[in-house]
Amino acid sequence: MSSLQFKGRDIVSIEDFSREEIDYILKSSQAMEQFAAKGSDMLKGKILVNLFFEPSTRTRLSFEAAMLKLGGSTIGFAEAEIASVRKGENLADTIRTVENYADIIALRHPLEGAAKLAAEFSKVPVLNAGSGAEEHPTQAFMDLYTLQKEKGKIDGLKIALVGDLRYGRTVHSLAYALSLYNIELYLISPETLRMRHEVIRAIKNKISIIEDTNLENIIPQIDVLYVTRIQKERFPDLAEYAKVKGAYRIDLKTLQKAKKDMIILHPLPRIDEIAAEVDSTPQARYFQQVWNGIVVRMALLALVLGAVK
Ligand code: NCD
Repeated sequence: MSSLQFKGRDIVSIEDFSREEIDYILKSSQAMEQFAAKGSDMLKGKILVNLFFEPSTRTRLSFEAAMLKLGGSTIGFAEAEIASVRKGENLADTIRTVENYADIIALRHPLEGAAKLAAEFSKVPVLNAGSGAEEHPTQAFMDLYTLQKEKGKIDGLKIALVGDLRYGRTVHSLAYALSLYNIELYLISPETLRMRHEVIRAIKNKISIIEDTNLENIIPQIDVLYVTRIQKERFPDLAEYAKVKGAYRIDLKTLQKAKKDMIILHPLPRIDEIAAEVDSTPQARYFQQVWNGIVVRMALLALVLGAVK
């Protein structure tokens, strides 16, 4: 039994979670594997409302699948154009309406701070399913769970985050979380897409960080290569995007220099940053990562809704 409290909590930022809490969530996720396979009715009668103001395949569907596997139901929209937002409704009013239908809300929104604002207005817990370029905490939990499952541990790993570290929200949440472990972090990006200053400031005294633009030099050392998409839609200027498009491409040649047991993760969607030929190598683990998203979201739903302690 744990003395940690998850019931009724919002999941807005991964920074709100201690190492002990994160480790507990990873343990709870592992306990969910059996229910992901055979189903459960522990959330029977509970409703998840998905409010997705930005495109999504995995996050929305895995929240839905997680809820259904636990016997709950989901409603919501995945296309803000058809919701009342289109008529000019503001987010606070949408939340104060939707909370009447919901036991829990998952929100994805293009604006930073949106999840925090929603959590302030909502009587029911809010799960941040992506807030602009800021954070994506549930993705970070599944990334950590994947590391734990695939490498057997997180402490001691040398981990490279590669690609768009400026606009990519998954790497922000992941970097915050990894700073609670004893790891070495390599931040590989084009100069213009370096890791946000606020993230660097928050983590630099906790772990060793190596920033570089060159991936090849560090490939032989690392245990985990976490690749991200250049976030085209977040560039204020498409001419800037054109300059960094295709900056990194992982192919079989890249892997020749890698450790045999290095693993490759990616939050997906992938554009061209990992060649299809890599998919069938033992290093590619990004589709296993997708499965882990279901069990982790099952655990988060069950913990926040108080179905498990
Ligand atoms: C990510 C996102 O939406 O931030 N996708 C996801 O949720 N798995 C990554 C991305 O869009 O590049």
